[in-house]
Amino acid sequence: MNNSLEDFDSKKVAKILLKWFDKKGRNLPWRKVLKSKKNPYYVWISEIMLQQTTVNAVIPRFKSFIRRWPNIKKLSLASIDEILHEWQGLGYYTRAHNIHRTAKIINNDFGGKLPKDSSSLKKLPGIGDYTAGAVASIAFLEPILPIDVNIQRVLARIKGIYLNDKKFKSMIRDFASSFVEINRPGDLTEAFMDLGATLCKLNNPKCSYCPISKYCISFNKKITNKIPGKSMSKARSRKYGVAFFAINQRGEVLLRKRKNQNIFNGMMELPMTPLSEKVWTPDSLTKYYPIKGNWNDTKLSYKGPLSGFELKLSIQFTRVITREKKHWFSLSEMDNYALPSVFKKIIDLVEKNFLKN
Ligand code: ADE
Repeated sequence: MNNSLEDFDSKKVAKILLKWFDKKGRNLPWRKVLKSKKNPYYVWISEIMLQQTTVNAVIPRFKSFIRRWPNIKKLSLASIDEILHEWQGLGYYTRAHNIHRTAKIINNDFGGKLPKDSSSLKKLPGIGDYTAGAVASIAFLEPILPIDVNIQRVLARIKGIYLNDKKFKSMIRDFASSFVEINRPGDLTEAFMDLGATLCKLNNPKCSYCPISKYCISFNKKITNKIPGKSMSKARSRKYGVAFFAINQRGEVLLRKRKNQNIFNGMMELPMTPLSEKVWTPDSLTKYYPIKGNWNDTKLSYKGPLSGFELKLSIQFTRVITREKKHWFSLSEMDNYALPSVFKKIIDLVEKNFLKN
């Protein structure tokens, strides 16, 4: 048994992991190789999609994105509205804006090719430490092991370190850098990802199938389900807002274009109040009504996670008669508009509860 931190042989463990990966690694669309090379564009787009979206949800969206823009040159000619439309439902729309900006930078400043090293990649919009390391190791064979929550969990378990340990981050970083794999750095990155996704899962890890369990401190100490555990500081904050649903005599809904906001920038949305830490009282709403009407609380609400906090949107409703054409959009054609899925859900809710007999 190899349990002490000093004795741990990263080279040997990497070799075992690579052997396991050759047999059990997942066959994912962005992992296709041409003349034993990955397509850096595929790796970049997939990594951005995978930042906040699960592999299963990403697969069809990745395929559709690549079908529409098969290379960076084509993508760099796309408008932000087109990219946002393609991004619909994936959430965290800042990613779509960053892809748009990065594609233009790559086309203008880098001759249409992604820079090959993690430090240059990190300077591009939307690419942080993890994504730079993932793209550099997988697409360009830079010997680096990037750390996302999944790889972090695998490393923490092997080492037996808890998330609430004061030195957690630096210990994980040091441990990750001991895995520098010269020959197959990208495969090792993907091997860690696949181990985390298929065996070393957060809940019910399948240690009996794990090729490296005998080197894993958590497994040997029977503490796998306690690691990484909870960090001291994480309490998800909640934000409240009120969305206004006005429908006119033509069956059209009042929408507005959202500007200069990180989330949903440039997309259409229902008019709404700003988000607040406090619940909105009826009196405080009047100045936000987007149009005169007989506004009523529907008692319906949307609850869900959004960019790092829990969102609760309550919904006010009114019918109006108007000759105005601008800003009104046919309810039956809502699917054609670039609308964040939060608003699509709200519109569905109101439609089901108020507009269908
Ligand atoms: N999660 C993040 N990046 C990934 C990748 N390239 N393959 C599978 N899962 C991932």
